[in-house]
Amino acid sequence: MSTEKDRIIIFDTTLRDGEQSPGATLNADEKLTIARSLARLGVDVIEAGFPRASQGDFQAVQQIAEVVGIEGGPTICALARAMKEDIKQAGEAIKPAASGRIHTFIATSDIHLEYKLKKSRKDVLAIVPEMVGYGKTFTENVEFSPEDAARSDPEFLYEVLEAAIAAGATTVNIPDTVGYTTPYEFGALIRGIKENVPNIDNAIISVHGHNDLGLAVANFLEAVKNGARQLECTINGIGERAGNAALEELVMALYVRRQYYNPFLGRDPESIEPLTNIDTTQIYKTSRLVSNLTGMSVQPNKAIVGVNAFAHESGIHQDGVLKNRLTYEIMDASSIGLSKNEIVLGKHSGRHAFRDRLQKLGYELNETELNKAFLRFKEVADKKKVVSDLDLEAIVNDEIQQVPELFHLELVQVSCGDNARPTATVTLRTPDGEELTDAAIGTGPVDAVYKAINRVVNIPNELIEYSVKSVTEGIDAMGEVTIRLRHQMRVYSGHAANTDIIVASARAYISALNRLYGALQQEEKPLHPQTVAGKQ
Ligand code: KIV
Ligand code: ZN
Repeated sequence: MSTEKDRIIIFDTTLRDGEQSPGATLNADEKLTIARSLARLGVDVIEAGFPRASQGDFQAVQQIAEVVGIEGGPTICALARAMKEDIKQAGEAIKPAASGRIHTFIATSDIHLEYKLKKSRKDVLAIVPEMVGYGKTFTENVEFSPEDAARSDPEFLYEVLEAAIAAGATTVNIPDTVGYTTPYEFGALIRGIKENVPNIDNAIISVHGHNDLGLAVANFLEAVKNGARQLECTINGIGERAGNAALEELVMALYVRRQYYNPFLGRDPESIEPLTNIDTTQIYKTSRLVSNLTGMSVQPNKAIVGVNAFAHESGIHQDGVLKNRLTYEIMDASSIGLSKNEIVLGKHSGRHAFRDRLQKLGYELNETELNKAFLRFKEVADKKKVVSDLDLEAIVNDEIQQVPELFHLELVQVSCGDNARPTATVTLRTPDGEELTDAAIGTGPVDAVYKAINRVVNIPNELIEYSVKSVTEGIDAMGEVTIRLRHQMRVYSGHAANTDIIVASARAYISALNRLYGALQQEEKPLHPQTVAGKQ
């Protein structure tokens, strides 16, 4: 049986740092759906949010603590700046969890001290033990992060970490906040911490890193070799700017190359005991869910979860793979849960078969969600005749999206062609229950639809991303549309799937507009943990 120090703890921050990426904002129900999926994936810790950001964020963390943070489930963590009010709110929010953690942080690099915090090193050295100690009054499990550690003076960092551990921090996390370090440097930093922080054995060393130079995963793997035992990562690598280290890449590197990494954890190279607790077969499904709910598409060539990651297009490769899979494949698609796209249901399949298949795919829907999804399934089955697992996932992900339907699409109709002016008519139900119809001409059918919708909704915005891809192969495939739009510097995303891509396009746009409209109605603007000094 491995102990925490000889295995790798996976700390998922999709719902906190991941959600900080522009446009990835999720509502409480969507966060809960993702948290459930992370628990099925087997992550050890879920960083569920920053409760001080807003009342909504507080409630989302609390709900996750209550529903997902059950006995035997993951530890539920909440972020707090090194400020009493933040820590208090984090402590309250994680209270319902069987195992809860407060993660408090303050910057330690001179550049952050001078320009962001306007504090001296001495100030920081006094704040850290006081705030870690305050965190301990809520939970035994307190993590401390010196923000921008990778650009901090190592000697000062050692002092801060020693003070944090002496005050009771059980995990010390070393962030490369701006994605600046390189693998060799980061490994050396972790080694330096192990060698120079006298009480380091009383805490787990964790790493956190951003991908500005595309090095986050490589940096983490080097950190593991030098003593890091917790990795802070996100699904699909989403996060601030270029994102965070990607969970699926870290986990699969440690899985595929475990013979290489085993000795760094004091194991026999041939040991087959997994290095993490992750159920790798849940990776693909979790990736799709996060991508659909956040509106952050996964690039086709993305390692592990991109659509091309297991596709062997070139004739030479196909020939090799057919002769012996190992010629060009280092892992099996089934190891990440990318099953053969089986045809499972048809238009005569009943509710029972539908619910059964969804359960096998790992979806637990409540009655209302099941009814909605079943109706959509019938619609799709009528058009498509056969419905595969991938179609089912698209239907369910679409139906369980929890964007409040403030505007509802009642009708969309287009006329277009090579000698026609693309024209669209839409009817929307407004938040007041009124039905409004309008029409517009555009450069193409989607443009015409969006212009017609704009005439009804009347909220200025700029479309910054529109992408459409097919869920499965074949001419009758469902299309998935993801869009991102900007309104006053904030980005909102929308996603929809349908056998008709014009309908999917209209619904994706309405979904993003509903997020935008909902945000405009909210009085309280969420507080960003890292860029705003904020209220004390
Ligand atoms: O990138 C960072 O430094 C962070 C901290 C809050 C841990 O996200
Ligand atoms: Zn971060």
